[in-house]
Amino acid sequence: MDTIQIKDKNFTISIREKEIQKEVIRVANEINRDLAGEEPLFLSVLNGSFMFTSDLMKHITIPCEISFIKLASYQGVSSTGTIKEVIGINEDVTDRTIVIVEDIVDTGLTMQRLLETLGTRHPKKIYIASLLVKPDKLKVDLDIKYVAMRIPNDFIVGYGLDYDGYGRNYPDIYTVVD
Ligand code: IMP
Ligand code: MG
Repeated sequence: MDTIQIKDKNFTISIREKEIQKEVIRVANEINRDLAGEEPLFLSVLNGSFMFTSDLMKHITIPCEISFIKLASYQGVSSTGTIKEVIGINEDVTDRTIVIVEDIVDTGLTMQRLLETLGTRHPKKIYIASLLVKPDKLKVDLDIKYVAMRIPNDFIVGYGLDYDGYGRNYPDIYTVVD
């Protein structure tokens, strides 16, 4: 299936499952090498990173813990727009090495907000592992240590990422056709 339709949009295949898996394994190996002895706590950001997290963790061979968090958006009363609240951090992150597992860093504003929130809980160190980064759209200065793939600005779906809630189930990544 090289083209799919979700609601009003058409998408064409852009990154195949095999290529994704290759890069995910590379990232897992980098983490295994760099964080040996750290016993990291992986914090997977739902919903988008569920597939990446699952595949990544199968290749992590160092002692670690995994937990899941969610960013709940609600409309702020001021003109600042959408505010994101982090929910589901039940672990004590004090002095822990944290690896945030994200699906995609676009403007980086979501990640910046997450780093601020986690930072107040005094972790030892926070690393970011993102499946995808759109470098041309980054608005904030972020040190993204682990990146599976860098992609152009186009909107994508599949492998956990959605268009209006749909399309997360595909094992490949598709790009919108305009
Ligand atoms: P940021 O705050 O602009 O970095 O946005 C990050 C969030 O926007 C991601 O966690 C995704 O949920 C969503 N997002 C950004 N680009 C895409 C895309 O191309 N497809 C699907 N979701 C996206
Ligand atoms: Mg996300």
